[in-house]
Amino acid sequence: MSHIAKAARDVPRMPEAIQSTAIDVRGLHVRRRRTTILRGLDFTVDSGRITGLLGPSGSGKTTLMRTLVGAQRITKGTVTVLGRPAGAASLRHEVGYLTQDPSVYPDLSVEANVRYFGAMHGMKAPDIAAAIAAVGLEKFTKQRAADLSGGEFSRVSLACALVSRPKLLILDEPTVGLDPVLRADLWERFAAMAAAGTTLLISSHVMEEASHSSSLLLLREGLLLAQLTPAELGERGHSSDLERAFLNIIRDAEAAAKVAPEEGR
Ligand SMILES: Nc1ncnc2c1ncn2[C@@H]1O[C@H](COP(=O)(O)OP(=O)(O)OP(=O)(O)O)[C@@H](O)[C@H]1O
Ligand SMILES: [Mg+2]
Repeated sequence: MSHIAKAARDVPRMPEAIQSTAIDVRGLHVRRRRTTILRGLDFTVDSGRITGLLGPSGSGKTTLMRTLVGAQRITKGTVTVLGRPAGAASLRHEVGYLTQDPSVYPDLSVEANVRYFGAMHGMKAPDIAAAIAAVGLEKFTKQRAADLSGGEFSRVSLACALVSRPKLLILDEPTVGLDPVLRADLWERFAAMAAAGTTLLISSHVMEEASHSSSLLLLREGLLLAQLTPAELGERGHSSDLERAFLNIIRDAEAAAKVAPEEGR
């Protein structure tokens, strides 16, 4: 283990009560160029749970995730991650981030890619092998990433995010482009990680995947429409089909915004 990784692990743990909240976002506004992308978000994410981040394309999911890992400047508000300001140096070993576009070296083998990211966190060979197995790529360990299928390639990126065994995993559309069997398999793995104490924040376009989360954040045009459980989503959206339920909630919000435009913004 590197000195840095050891130092990060030696940081005293916070009391249970404080630790039960992994992410605390208050009055978050983010502007890029002249556009306000996130418009006053308030929410918390519980530790050891899966929270789903759902919203149409362009609603701000990636921008929010980048903010949580400290890659996006905050215009206004506070973002606290594992008890520290988002992007704090000490969070580097505790937060794993899967970017929407796979960040993998195509010329390196699967193993070399995962080893490279693992080395930054002082991880050793058994950890590398475990991360590769966690995404079901054992058969391709020695294969060049460029020679993998699209779904396999994106799973290399996921293995790189998992390898440091972070307390908080932020995954931007990890199941996109995967077949239903692999998708189900990954969700089982995410559930096992949450059961072992990892906090997961996972964005998705696929509404049926929402049912795997304990809590859902519904984002639309940079506003948080609701934070609710999958069952509450069904109830509030008047449908057991979560896709339809979400559309109904969006339509209700649009109707409300038309009645009171200044309140919707
Ligand atoms: N660098 C930038 N400058 C200005 N606007 C940007 C920039 N990057 C993103 N945006 C805008 O911010 C909004 C939110 O983008 P973001 O990538 O966060 O959405 P998303 O919900 O992740 O979408 P998708 O589901 O397509 O990945 C979009 O309207 C996008 O055009
Ligand atoms: Mg995105």
